[in-house]
Amino acid sequence: MDNVSFMALDAQQIAQQSLPKHVAIIMDGNGRWAQAQGRPRVYGHKKGVDAVKDAVKFCSKLGIESLTLFAFSSENWRRPEEEVSTLMELFMMVLGREVKKLHKNNVKLSIIGDMSRFSNKLQEKIAAAESLTAENTGLRLNIAANYGGRWDIGYAAQQLAKQVQAGELSADDIDEHSLAKHISLNEQSELDLLIRTGGDLRISNFLLWQAAYAELYFTPTLWPDFNESAFADAIACYVSRERRFGCTGEQIKQLLCTAQP
Ligand code: IPE
Ligand code: IPE
Ligand code: MG
Repeated sequence: MDNVSFMALDAQQIAQQSLPKHVAIIMDGNGRWAQAQGRPRVYGHKKGVDAVKDAVKFCSKLGIESLTLFAFSSENWRRPEEEVSTLMELFMMVLGREVKKLHKNNVKLSIIGDMSRFSNKLQEKIAAAESLTAENTGLRLNIAANYGGRWDIGYAAQQLAKQVQAGELSADDIDEHSLAKHISLNEQSELDLLIRTGGDLRISNFLLWQAAYAELYFTPTLWPDFNESAFADAIACYVSRERRFGCTGEQIKQLLCTAQP
């Protein structure tokens, strides 16, 4: 389905069931977007914030349950100090400025990643933003900051090891189900769609565990240009794909037939 035909459909007409419940985005290409205009990379990050706001609005409108955005990876500390500190300041500023609006729009905010490396001030701001929005029932917005998929799995393993050490769990009880309980976002819907903007075809240590069965969508569009129409293209592409979870297409069709009243 092309974008025009998708946009022509009323949101009500697209069966809610066929939409992804959980979408994650690797928001890449800010630096290149700025450089293409002869501006410093940080200008691209600032523009990227507008694209984040558009994406949040889009998901709320469409009734998507969870949106998880990769804002800063555990590897991004390797960037020049000046860029890292600008990104941190931007994060602080946006948290302070936008959280009331998010709250008003019934968005529940969570930050995932290793918070321990952030300044105390930033950690406090994060905790305050999460607690303000904790009871909200609308879109679940997860921001991955100092996040790495390997860190996530390692941290989950550490939690289980501590339980074994405390005599609360037997090592034989460690399996993918017990591990999954300690992986970030475990209490939300399974990740359905993973989008990467900016043209690179890799996952860059994002949701390694959670993406096991996610549909992958790569677009050359740079993050600051990823508007509602570009997001709609990604959703339309997802809707048109056949997800089989290891079954055959025939088995899925039979399942659909038997599920009908
Ligand atoms: C993604 O844009 C944003 C962050 C990693 C914070 P980049 O900064 O990676 O932009 P490019 O990929 O260099 O263009
Ligand atoms: C991935 O983008 C991280 C974020 C979008 C936050 P990068 O630009 O850091 O990824 P690599 O280094 O090109 O793999
Ligand atoms: Mg990049």
